[in-house]
Amino acid sequence: MHSGAKIWKKLTNSKVYNISKIEKKFLKKESKEVIKEINTKFNIIDMGCGDGGTVYIFLRQVSKRFTPKYCALDISKEMLAKSNVFLEKKFPKLNSEFHQLDFEEGNFAYLTENLKEKNYKTNLILLLTNTLDNVVDRSRVLTNIRESMTLNDYLLIGIELFDIKRTQNILKQYTKGSIVRRLVLNALKNYGVNEKDGEWVVDFNTNKIQIEIRFIPKKDLPIKIGRRKIILKKKNKSLLLAVSYKPTPKSLQLLLANSDFFIKKSFLVPNENYAFVLCKPTQW
Ligand SMILES: C[S@@+](CC[C@H](N)C(=O)[O-])C[C@H]1O[C@@H](n2cnc3c(N)ncnc32)[C@H](O)[C@@H]1O
Repeated sequence: MHSGAKIWKKLTNSKVYNISKIEKKFLKKESKEVIKEINTKFNIIDMGCGDGGTVYIFLRQVSKRFTPKYCALDISKEMLAKSNVFLEKKFPKLNSEFHQLDFEEGNFAYLTENLKEKNYKTNLILLLTNTLDNVVDRSRVLTNIRESMTLNDYLLIGIELFDIKRTQNILKQYTKGSIVRRLVLNALKNYGVNEKDGEWVVDFNTNKIQIEIRFIPKKDLPIKIGRRKIILKKKNKSLLLAVSYKPTPKSLQLLLANSDFFIKKSFLVPNENYAFVLCKPTQW
């Protein structure tokens, strides 16, 4: 297994980062309600499918009612391969397809339209397990999704909400040697940068309601991006490595409205720090 996927697996199974477990349990409970709310057969488009462990729970419920069409999208070939193997084993007859795609780059209407032409007339797009939390330009991603939908489609977002106690706990998880830090570090290593080459700063940005992980180089650092080499200048001060958005219900509603979505139904865990938000596009 590639080291990034290995660390991710460790992280999602760890006690501190239990969001994956919370979501799986919640999905088991609420899948029926989501399916009932949509009230028609649909194609499933799983954005950032990961290893397929989360969508498996949803697919199990859907498969009791009808045979879904499943389309997985991920930027990582490794994740696509893993989810393909896993889901094929669990559902040998699943009608599925897997595409490598960067959903921050642009819309993917060519894919969503094609699915509707060949399968059901409604698409349900899934954006689960904090996938939206970790993108830097959330509005861009939501716009790309909106442009890939028509009015009868649905978007289901699984998202961790702002919780002061949990946020403080999460901030503590970035200490030296922690799994979260190793995961970010591993991504940095791919560009030829080591932990000792700079200083880590982890903060909560109250304006953007997000945790921000920055790296301040101690010296000018050459980094490799594919075949290109660029210099990460010390004087540029800091490099934003990762973000983790923790919205309040109100700010999430606003973000969605600004990207031309409205919330059809929300499903909140009892302590209200995690939600499934079922959205529909608003008319342009
Ligand atoms: C937080 S994991 C969630 C995995 C899975 N949905 C789950 O519920 O377990 C995020 C996934 O999104 C993928 N991803 C991150 N940024 C992406 C992008 N810009 N375009 C496509 N996939 C992306 C990652 O490779 C990873 O598999």
